[in-house]
Amino acid sequence: MDIKEINSHLDLVLAKAEKDLEEVTELKDLQAVKVSYLGKKGPLKAAMKYMKDLSNEEKPLLGQAINKVQEAINEKIEALQVHLEEKALEEALEKDALDVTLPGRKHATGHRHVLVHIMEDIEDLFVEMGYQVVEGYEIESDHYNFEMMNLPKNHPARDMQDTFYITDEVLLRTHTSPVQARTMEAHDFSKGPLKMISPGRVFRRDDDDATHSHQFHQIEGLVVSKDVTLADLKGTLDLLAKELFGYDRATRLRPSYFPFTEPSVEVDVSCFKCGGEGCHVCKGTGWIEILGCGMVHPHVLEMAGVDPKEYQGFAFGIGADRIAMLKYEIEDIRHLYQNDQRFLNQF
Ligand code: DAH
Repeated sequence: MDIKEINSHLDLVLAKAEKDLEEVTELKDLQAVKVSYLGKKGPLKAAMKYMKDLSNEEKPLLGQAINKVQEAINEKIEALQVHLEEKALEEALEKDALDVTLPGRKHATGHRHVLVHIMEDIEDLFVEMGYQVVEGYEIESDHYNFEMMNLPKNHPARDMQDTFYITDEVLLRTHTSPVQARTMEAHDFSKGPLKMISPGRVFRRDDDDATHSHQFHQIEGLVVSKDVTLADLKGTLDLLAKELFGYDRATRLRPSYFPFTEPSVEVDVSCFKCGGEGCHVCKGTGWIEILGCGMVHPHVLEMAGVDPKEYQGFAFGIGADRIAMLKYEIEDIRHLYQNDQRFLNQF
Protein backbone atom coordinates (compact mmCIF):
# COMPACT_ATOMS: atom_id res chain seq x y z
CA MET A 1 0.00 0.00 0.00
CA ASP A 2 1.18 3.49 -0.69
CA ILE A 3 0.44 6.45 1.54
CA LYS A 4 -2.61 7.47 -0.47
CA GLU A 5 -4.20 4.09 -0.13
CA ILE A 6 -3.39 4.02 3.59
CA ASN A 7 -5.00 7.44 4.02
CA SER A 8 -8.20 6.38 2.37
CA HIS A 9 -8.16 3.21 4.47
CA LEU A 10 -7.84 5.34 7.58
CA ASP A 11 -10.69 7.58 6.37
CA LEU A 12 -12.83 4.47 6.13
CA VAL A 13 -11.86 3.45 9.65
CA LEU A 14 -12.89 6.90 10.92
CA ALA A 15 -16.17 6.80 9.02
CA LYS A 16 -16.99 3.37 10.39
CA ALA A 17 -16.10 4.45 13.92
CA GLU A 18 -18.41 7.46 13.58
CA LYS A 19 -21.19 5.22 12.39
CA ASP A 20 -20.66 2.73 15.24
CA LEU A 21 -20.65 5.57 17.77
CA GLU A 22 -23.92 6.90 16.40
CA GLU A 23 -25.53 3.65 17.40
CA VAL A 24 -24.26 3.75 20.99
CA THR A 25 -27.04 4.82 23.36
CA GLU A 26 -25.73 3.36 26.64
CA LEU A 27 -22.54 4.12 28.54
CA LYS A 28 -21.78 0.45 28.94
CA ASP A 29 -21.62 -0.05 25.12
CA LEU A 30 -19.30 2.91 24.67
CA GLN A 31 -16.36 1.21 26.34
CA ALA A 32 -16.58 -1.74 23.92
CA VAL A 33 -16.49 0.59 20.90
CA LYS A 34 -13.56 2.45 22.39
CA VAL A 35 -11.54 -0.72 22.85
CA SER A 36 -12.41 -2.02 19.40
CA TYR A 37 -10.98 1.11 17.68
CA LEU A 38 -8.31 2.42 20.00
CA GLY A 39 -7.24 -0.83 21.70
CA LYS A 40 -4.16 -2.95 20.96
CA LYS A 41 -6.08 -5.11 18.54
CA GLY A 42 -7.82 -2.21 16.85
CA PRO A 43 -7.44 -1.07 13.19
CA LEU A 44 -5.21 1.92 14.10
CA LYS A 45 -2.57 -0.18 15.81
CA ALA A 46 -2.84 -2.59 12.85
CA ALA A 47 -2.18 0.23 10.37
CA MET A 48 1.36 0.55 11.81
CA LYS A 49 2.22 -2.58 9.87
CA TYR A 50 2.21 -0.50 6.64
CA MET A 51 5.27 1.35 7.89
CA LYS A 52 7.57 -1.14 6.29
CA ASP A 53 6.04 -0.51 2.83
CA LEU A 54 6.79 3.22 2.96
CA SER A 55 9.75 5.31 1.94
CA ASN A 56 11.71 7.20 4.57
CA GLU A 57 9.97 10.45 3.58
CA GLU A 58 6.55 8.88 3.89
CA LYS A 59 7.12 7.10 7.20
CA PRO A 60 6.45 10.20 9.41
CA LEU A 61 3.29 10.88 7.43
CA LEU A 62 1.81 7.54 8.45
CA GLY A 63 2.31 8.27 12.14
CA GLN A 64 0.70 11.69 11.72
CA ALA A 65 -2.26 10.25 9.82
CA ILE A 66 -2.89 7.55 12.41
CA ASN A 67 -2.63 10.10 15.23
CA LYS A 68 -5.12 12.37 13.54
CA VAL A 69 -7.70 9.64 13.16
CA GLN A 70 -7.05 8.43 16.68
CA GLU A 71 -7.60 11.94 18.07
CA ALA A 72 -10.73 12.39 16.01
CA ILE A 73 -12.20 9.12 17.30
CA ASN A 74 -11.13 9.89 20.83
CA GLU A 75 -12.77 13.31 20.73
CA LYS A 76 -16.00 11.81 19.54
CA ILE A 77 -15.90 9.14 22.26
CA GLU A 78 -15.29 11.73 24.96
CA ALA A 79 -18.09 13.97 23.73
CA LEU A 80 -20.42 11.02 23.56
CA GLN A 81 -19.37 9.92 27.05
CA VAL A 82 -20.25 13.34 28.50
CA HIS A 83 -23.58 13.28 26.70
CA LEU A 84 -24.44 9.75 27.87
CA GLU A 85 -23.45 10.50 31.46
CA GLU A 86 -25.71 13.53 31.49
CA LYS A 87 -28.51 11.49 30.01
CA ALA A 88 -28.04 8.72 32.61
CA LEU A 89 -28.08 11.28 35.43
CA GLU A 90 -31.23 12.90 34.11
CA GLU A 91 -32.93 9.54 33.83
CA ALA A 92 -31.91 8.58 37.37
CA LEU A 93 -33.17 11.89 38.73
CA GLU A 94 -36.43 11.47 36.94
CA LYS A 95 -36.83 7.92 38.17
CA ASP A 96 -36.10 8.76 41.81
CA ALA A 97 -37.94 12.04 41.72
CA LEU A 98 -39.93 12.91 44.81
CA ASP A 99 -43.41 14.06 43.93
CA VAL A 100 -44.05 16.65 46.59
CA THR A 101 -47.63 17.02 45.44
CA LEU A 102 -48.50 13.45 46.48
CA PRO A 103 -50.62 13.33 49.65
CA GLY A 104 -48.50 12.46 52.68
CA ARG A 105 -48.82 9.27 54.63
CA LYS A 106 -51.21 9.92 57.52
CA HIS A 107 -50.03 9.09 61.00
CA ALA A 108 -52.99 7.44 62.66
CA THR A 109 -53.57 8.96 66.06
CA GLY A 110 -56.23 7.37 68.20
CA HIS A 111 -58.54 9.04 70.65
CA ARG A 112 -60.42 8.08 73.75
CA HIS A 113 -63.19 5.54 73.43
CA VAL A 114 -66.74 6.86 73.57
CA LEU A 115 -67.30 5.00 76.87
CA VAL A 116 -64.23 6.61 78.41
CA HIS A 117 -65.57 9.99 77.26
CA ILE A 118 -68.87 9.42 79.00
CA MET A 119 -67.27 8.18 82.20
CA GLU A 120 -64.83 11.08 82.29
CA ASP A 121 -67.60 13.61 81.67
CA ILE A 122 -69.51 12.17 84.61
CA GLU A 123 -66.35 12.13 86.73
CA ASP A 124 -65.73 15.80 85.95
CA LEU A 125 -69.26 16.75 86.96
CA PHE A 126 -69.02 14.99 90.32
CA VAL A 127 -65.47 16.11 91.06
CA GLU A 128 -66.76 19.68 90.66
CA MET A 129 -69.32 18.87 93.36
CA GLY A 130 -66.63 17.65 95.74
CA TYR A 131 -66.86 13.90 95.16
CA GLN A 132 -63.77 11.70 95.25
CA VAL A 133 -63.19 9.22 92.42
CA VAL A 134 -62.51 5.73 93.73
CA GLU A 135 -61.28 2.73 91.81
CA GLY A 136 -62.67 -0.64 92.72
CA TYR A 137 -61.58 -4.16 91.91
CA GLU A 138 -62.79 -5.99 88.83
CA ILE A 139 -62.06 -9.26 90.63
CA GLU A 140 -64.18 -9.14 93.77
CA SER A 141 -65.13 -11.41 96.58
CA ASP A 142 -68.62 -12.81 96.98
CA HIS A 143 -68.56 -11.00 100.31
CA TYR A 144 -68.31 -7.48 98.87
CA ASN A 145 -70.10 -8.06 95.58
CA PHE A 146 -73.16 -9.68 97.19
CA GLU A 147 -73.19 -10.11 100.98
CA MET A 148 -72.25 -6.54 101.85
CA MET A 149 -74.83 -5.31 99.33
CA ASN A 150 -77.57 -7.13 101.19
CA LEU A 151 -77.62 -10.05 98.80
CA PRO A 152 -76.96 -13.04 101.07
CA LYS A 153 -76.42 -16.50 99.59
CA ASN A 154 -79.63 -17.84 98.03
CA HIS A 155 -81.12 -14.36 97.71
CA PRO A 156 -83.34 -14.50 94.60
CA ALA A 157 -81.94 -11.22 93.24
CA ARG A 158 -78.61 -12.99 92.74
CA ASP A 159 -80.16 -14.78 89.78
CA MET A 160 -80.15 -11.56 87.76
CA GLN A 161 -76.44 -11.16 88.36
CA ASP A 162 -74.85 -14.47 87.53
CA THR A 163 -71.19 -14.01 86.74
CA PHE A 164 -67.82 -15.65 86.11
CA TYR A 165 -66.48 -17.40 89.18
CA ILE A 166 -62.78 -17.79 89.87
CA THR A 167 -63.47 -19.78 93.03
CA ASP A 168 -66.71 -20.18 95.00
CA GLU A 169 -65.85 -16.97 96.85
CA VAL A 170 -64.00 -14.97 94.17
CA LEU A 171 -65.72 -13.66 91.08
CA LEU A 172 -65.75 -10.96 88.41
CA ARG A 173 -67.87 -8.21 89.95
CA THR A 174 -71.39 -7.90 88.60
CA HIS A 175 -71.73 -4.22 89.48
CA THR A 176 -69.69 -1.33 90.87
CA SER A 177 -71.76 -1.38 94.10
CA PRO A 178 -69.15 -3.32 96.16
CA VAL A 179 -67.03 -0.15 96.02
CA GLN A 180 -69.70 1.40 98.29
CA ALA A 181 -68.98 -1.05 101.10
CA ARG A 182 -65.21 -0.85 100.70
CA THR A 183 -65.24 2.96 100.73
CA MET A 184 -67.59 3.21 103.72
CA GLU A 185 -65.38 0.83 105.69
CA ALA A 186 -62.29 2.88 104.89
CA HIS A 187 -63.84 6.31 105.42
CA ASP A 188 -63.12 8.31 108.55
CA PHE A 189 -66.52 9.89 109.25
CA SER A 190 -65.08 12.15 111.95
CA LYS A 191 -63.45 14.07 109.07
CA GLY A 192 -66.77 14.71 107.27
CA PRO A 193 -69.31 13.13 104.94
CA LEU A 194 -68.45 10.57 102.30
CA LYS A 195 -69.03 11.53 98.67
CA MET A 196 -67.65 9.28 96.03
CA ILE A 197 -68.13 7.99 92.51
CA SER A 198 -66.54 4.90 91.06
CA PRO A 199 -66.50 4.17 87.34
CA GLY A 200 -65.44 0.82 86.01
CA ARG A 201 -65.97 -2.41 84.20
CA VAL A 202 -68.45 -5.02 85.36
CA PHE A 203 -69.31 -8.52 84.19
CA ARG A 204 -72.35 -10.76 83.89
CA ARG A 205 -72.84 -14.23 82.58
CA ASP A 206 -75.12 -13.02 79.80
CA ASP A 207 -75.36 -14.32 76.28
CA ASP A 208 -74.12 -11.47 74.12
CA ASP A 209 -76.76 -9.89 71.92
CA ALA A 210 -77.67 -6.40 70.76
CA THR A 211 -78.43 -5.19 74.28
CA HIS A 212 -76.39 -7.59 76.44
CA SER A 213 -72.67 -8.00 76.78
CA HIS A 214 -70.68 -10.15 79.20
CA GLN A 215 -68.82 -6.97 80.11
CA PHE A 216 -70.06 -3.41 80.39
CA HIS A 217 -69.42 -0.25 82.39
CA GLN A 218 -71.06 1.40 85.36
CA ILE A 219 -70.55 4.48 87.42
CA GLU A 220 -71.43 4.05 91.07
CA GLY A 221 -72.21 7.01 93.27
CA LEU A 222 -72.52 7.22 97.03
CA VAL A 223 -73.10 10.00 99.53
CA VAL A 224 -73.24 9.23 103.26
CA SER A 225 -73.77 12.01 105.76
CA LYS A 226 -75.83 12.99 108.75
CA ASP A 227 -78.77 14.56 106.99
CA VAL A 228 -79.00 13.30 103.44
CA THR A 229 -82.47 12.96 101.99
CA LEU A 230 -84.20 11.68 98.89
CA ALA A 231 -84.45 15.33 97.81
CA ASP A 232 -80.64 15.51 97.66
CA LEU A 233 -80.67 12.39 95.54
CA LYS A 234 -83.26 13.82 93.18
CA GLY A 235 -81.45 17.16 92.84
CA THR A 236 -78.11 15.48 92.18
CA LEU A 237 -79.41 13.03 89.60
CA ASP A 238 -81.52 15.69 87.92
CA LEU A 239 -78.30 17.60 87.38
CA LEU A 240 -76.58 14.47 86.06
CA ALA A 241 -79.44 13.83 83.62
CA LYS A 242 -79.29 17.41 82.37
CA GLU A 243 -75.51 17.23 81.99
CA LEU A 244 -75.83 14.08 79.91
CA PHE A 245 -78.91 14.84 77.84
CA GLY A 246 -79.33 18.62 77.84
CA TYR A 247 -80.44 21.30 80.23
CA ASP A 248 -84.08 21.38 79.10
CA ARG A 249 -84.61 17.74 80.18
CA ALA A 250 -86.98 16.85 83.00
CA THR A 251 -86.54 13.88 85.32
CA ARG A 252 -88.94 11.75 87.30
CA LEU A 253 -88.48 9.09 89.96
CA ARG A 254 -90.29 5.77 89.73
CA PRO A 255 -90.50 3.29 92.63
CA SER A 256 -88.32 0.25 92.13
CA TYR A 257 -86.52 -2.42 94.09
CA PHE A 258 -82.85 -3.02 94.87
CA PRO A 259 -81.72 -5.07 97.86
CA PHE A 260 -79.19 -2.42 98.88
CA THR A 261 -81.50 0.62 98.90
CA GLU A 262 -84.72 1.47 100.73
CA PRO A 263 -86.65 3.13 99.24
CA SER A 264 -85.40 2.28 95.76
CA VAL A 265 -86.20 4.30 92.67
CA GLU A 266 -85.43 4.45 89.02
CA VAL A 267 -84.73 7.75 87.28
CA ASP A 268 -86.35 8.50 83.95
CA VAL A 269 -85.35 11.44 81.79
CA SER A 270 -87.72 13.11 79.34
CA CYS A 271 -86.90 11.94 75.85
CA PHE A 272 -84.08 13.99 74.34
CA LYS A 273 -85.15 12.99 70.85
CA CYS A 274 -88.81 14.00 70.83
CA GLY A 275 -88.89 16.19 73.94
CA GLY A 276 -91.46 13.91 75.56
CA GLU A 277 -94.07 13.49 72.85
CA GLY A 278 -93.21 9.87 72.12
CA CYS A 279 -90.92 8.44 69.44
CA HIS A 280 -88.90 5.31 68.63
CA VAL A 281 -86.13 6.22 71.08
CA CYS A 282 -88.47 6.43 74.10
CA LYS A 283 -90.74 3.73 72.64
CA GLY A 284 -93.64 6.14 72.58
CA THR A 285 -93.62 6.86 76.33
CA GLY A 286 -91.80 10.21 76.31
CA TRP A 287 -89.50 8.95 79.08
CA ILE A 288 -86.25 6.99 79.10
CA GLU A 289 -84.97 5.05 82.08
CA ILE A 290 -81.36 5.96 82.76
CA LEU A 291 -80.37 4.62 86.17
CA GLY A 292 -81.22 2.93 89.44
CA CYS A 293 -80.78 4.53 92.83
CA GLY A 294 -82.18 4.91 96.32
CA MET A 295 -81.47 5.64 99.96
CA VAL A 296 -78.77 3.30 101.25
CA HIS A 297 -80.40 0.41 103.10
CA PRO A 298 -79.77 0.71 106.88
CA HIS A 299 -78.45 -2.84 106.91
CA VAL A 300 -75.87 -1.97 104.23
CA LEU A 301 -74.69 0.97 106.35
CA GLU A 302 -74.59 -1.20 109.43
CA MET A 303 -72.60 -4.01 107.78
CA ALA A 304 -70.00 -1.43 106.68
CA GLY A 305 -69.69 -0.13 110.24
CA VAL A 306 -71.80 3.02 109.79
CA ASP A 307 -74.51 3.68 112.39
CA PRO A 308 -77.82 4.01 110.50
CA LYS A 309 -79.36 5.93 113.41
CA GLU A 310 -76.80 8.67 112.91
CA TYR A 311 -76.12 8.48 109.18
CA GLN A 312 -78.10 8.20 106.00
CA GLY A 313 -76.99 8.03 102.43
CA PHE A 314 -78.07 7.87 98.86
CA ALA A 315 -76.55 5.76 96.14
CA PHE A 316 -76.92 5.29 92.42
CA GLY A 317 -75.60 3.12 89.64
CA ILE A 318 -75.62 4.20 86.03
CA GLY A 319 -74.66 2.15 82.98
CA ALA A 320 -72.16 3.96 80.76
CA ASP A 321 -72.89 1.67 77.80
CA ARG A 322 -76.60 2.36 78.01
CA ILE A 323 -75.99 6.12 78.13
CA ALA A 324 -73.67 5.91 75.11
CA MET A 325 -76.22 3.83 73.20
CA LEU A 326 -79.06 6.21 73.99
CA LYS A 327 -77.13 9.37 73.35
CA TYR A 328 -75.62 8.30 70.04
CA GLU A 329 -78.41 5.92 68.98
CA ILE A 330 -76.05 2.93 68.85
CA GLU A 331 -78.27 -0.03 68.10
CA ASP A 332 -75.91 -2.81 69.17
CA ILE A 333 -73.82 -2.86 72.36
CA ARG A 334 -71.27 -5.14 70.66
CA HIS A 335 -70.12 -2.21 68.51
CA LEU A 336 -68.60 -0.76 71.67
CA TYR A 337 -66.28 -3.74 72.07
CA GLN A 338 -65.34 -4.81 68.55
CA ASN A 339 -62.80 -2.04 67.89
CA ASP A 340 -63.99 -1.46 64.36
CA GLN A 341 -62.40 1.81 63.32
CA ARG A 342 -65.38 2.71 61.14
CA PHE A 343 -67.40 2.77 64.35
CA LEU A 344 -64.79 4.28 66.68
CA ASN A 345 -63.90 7.15 64.34
CA GLN A 346 -67.44 8.48 64.55
CA PHE A 347 -66.84 9.75 68.08
N1 DAH B 1 -75.99 -2.21 91.16
C1 DAH B 1 -77.19 -2.02 90.40
C2 DAH B 1 -77.14 -2.87 89.16
O1 DAH B 1 -76.06 -3.22 88.73
C3 DAH B 1 -77.35 -0.59 90.05
C4 DAH B 1 -77.68 0.24 91.26
C5 DAH B 1 -78.99 0.45 91.61
C6 DAH B 1 -76.66 0.80 92.00
C7 DAH B 1 -79.30 1.21 92.71
C8 DAH B 1 -76.96 1.54 93.13
C9 DAH B 1 -78.33 1.75 93.47
O2 DAH B 1 -76.03 2.09 93.89
O3 DAH B 1 -78.60 2.48 94.57
O4 DAH B 1 -78.16 -3.14 88.58
